[in-house]
Amino acid sequence: MKTYIIGNWKMNHNIGEINNFFSFLNTEEQKKELARILRDENKEAWIAPQYIHIGMVKDLCASLNVNMRVGSQNSSTHEKGAFTGEVSAKALKDIGAHFVIVGHSERRSMFKEDYKMLKDKIALALSFNLKVVFCIGETLQEREEKRAVSVVRTQMEESLKGIDKSVFASEIILAYEPVWAIGTGKNATPDEAQEMHAAIRGILTNSLGIDPETAAILYGGSVSPTNISDLMKQKDINGVLVGGASLKPDDYLKLCQAQKR
Ligand code: PGA
Repeated sequence: MKTYIIGNWKMNHNIGEINNFFSFLNTEEQKKELARILRDENKEAWIAPQYIHIGMVKDLCASLNVNMRVGSQNSSTHEKGAFTGEVSAKALKDIGAHFVIVGHSERRSMFKEDYKMLKDKIALALSFNLKVVFCIGETLQEREEKRAVSVVRTQMEESLKGIDKSVFASEIILAYEPVWAIGTGKNATPDEAQEMHAAIRGILTNSLGIDPETAAILYGGSVSPTNISDLMKQKDINGVLVGGASLKPDDYLKLCQAQKR
């Protein structure tokens, strides 16, 4: 099973900051360390910058001579046409994106993305050979009302049902991100995360008929170089989706170093 460190830069980093990020990684010592980690083909290091920086970040990743990948934080529900301001999955593929994040809680809550829109985005991304990082997770209120598992089940059933099972494991990565842990500095404890990840494997089998052992499930929400190791020790956690801590190159490298051996 592969493990993943995926940086979600959100609406951060300008060109100068991106250059600084990669200048740090491009020093002899750091480059050697990244190469050592990523020589293992089961370890993945991905970054999702803003749309307009995807080409630039792709070139900078290539300049490191390691297998780092770039992707997008979103894509349109439509293939092409009169949708001013939208970015299509095909355009993302053309510019060199490897993956697209779909269903991040910020998009669900602030941009009112519903189950059907997310389902359409997933189908389009897959049709252009983009990998999908599909985010799911409950709010604090839902957790307190003991509805966390049922909320996640509905998110999965409504947006993933009908997807070709044969591509599921290789093309779709799930990211469990409890909304109350995102950007708050309060991560789910390793036990809380493990409990939900095990439940998600159950939903994969029972609701979607997918072999749960083949699916990668990442944890996201206030992951840092300090808490990643305990999270990654959990049996059902195959990596992390990281916002804040992925913006700093030294922290990003530390996150990569903490991938399961
Ligand atoms: P955070 O963000 O690591 O800053 O909590 C995670 C995410 O939104 O994917």
